[in-house]
Amino acid sequence: MAEAVVVVRGGTVLDATGERRADVVVEGQWIVAVEEGVPVPRGATVLDAGGCVVAPGLVDLHCHLRQPGAEGSETIESGARAAALGGYTAVVAMPNTDPPIDSASVVRDVRSLASGVPCHVAVAGAITVGRAGERLAPMAELAELGVRLFTDDGTGVQSASLMRRALLYAGGLGVTLAQHCEEASLAEGGVMHEGAVSSRLGLAGVPALAEELMVVRDLALVRETGARLHFLHLSTAAALDAVARAKGVGLPVTAEVAPHHFTLTDDALLGFDPVFKVSPPLRPEGDVAAVRAALADGTVDAIATDHAPHPPEAKDRPIDEAPPGMVGLETALALAMTELEVPLHRVLALLSWQPAAIAGLAPDHGGPIAPGAAANLCVIDPARPWVVDPAALASRSRNTPYAGRRLSAKVRHTVLAGEPVVVDGQAQR
Ligand code: DOR
Repeated sequence: MAEAVVVVRGGTVLDATGERRADVVVEGQWIVAVEEGVPVPRGATVLDAGGCVVAPGLVDLHCHLRQPGAEGSETIESGARAAALGGYTAVVAMPNTDPPIDSASVVRDVRSLASGVPCHVAVAGAITVGRAGERLAPMAELAELGVRLFTDDGTGVQSASLMRRALLYAGGLGVTLAQHCEEASLAEGGVMHEGAVSSRLGLAGVPALAEELMVVRDLALVRETGARLHFLHLSTAAALDAVARAKGVGLPVTAEVAPHHFTLTDDALLGFDPVFKVSPPLRPEGDVAAVRAALADGTVDAIATDHAPHPPEAKDRPIDEAPPGMVGLETALALAMTELEVPLHRVLALLSWQPAAIAGLAPDHGGPIAPGAAANLCVIDPARPWVVDPAALASRSRNTPYAGRRLSAKVRHTVLAGEPVVVDGQAQR
């Protein structure tokens, strides 16, 4: 049977190599031509990209797909659909599932659940058994299966000696560790950022210092071990400053931030609404400004969603009992394009090719759009206003902090391995 042909027509192609007007012709799973005004082959599916940017598919380094164990919040399939609608062709699923992804058998289970879903799902393994921070997970066995990123996300590895051993081990295996930076004795019991707003509300706080301390400790461990480390969802000026200095002296570290940390401040908690509760917490204006500056100056390598779905019965509880987390896959790109004062090329570097490289997914994802490359693409309408409606999200959970927010860009089409999985903003499966 002849391979299906898809033509993405009339857009501006934008990838790490630059920008040009071109149609993109896809045959089967591959890009076969990138040229202006190509004749449309008979029987081809044409995706209209008029007025749009055609980019490599986005890559999310950090999402919680909740399977196995919390299918009421999200499944790999519903999360993958939300991701595709958000322009993602690949996401990294965090291991804080039930059971956690700390063994070869759970990796295999998750992969089998992820086969055939409308977004590639890469699996992150846990650093420690059960994410309990006591002994190392069988990282070699997981690396053998192709796991490239390891993290205990949800919590940081508290023991410096265990983290040092994990880094030495990871360095030998050629994999990357990713740390949720929060020193537990300082963060314990905290519901929101510790500062003027938490004092006013009488809520226990998580000090900025909890993040900075672990970042500084881990930078020293990286300096000693030489192993690569990725910092998850950084949220404070002090931590970002430490990372900038470490990068300045050549340490092999990368960092991500989440959209909620450059679009919301801790003032959002003034109404005690648990939808704004997240870990690390929303911070005051000074930290938000530092996150934005770090996105602009290259200290930050990636925007990651930290998509953390929770159902109403869990989230609509008193704020000190509700779990932290917000959904984010369907709004991240639009928030970045609407809110950040950086060129689109930089936004896409942060959302596509830089995270693809960190996750070990390049060049299949995030790679240049050229003949011979894998056809993982997203087509973005940069001038399409829309209003976030929680009821319209494809995610099984509705806990977005952006209900009613006007955004100014939208994904029109997503192509995964040559297949249009989102067409005109509609999921195809
Ligand atoms: O807010 C958060 N929610 N931060 C995390 O690190 C974990 C996540 C979750 O799994 O709900």
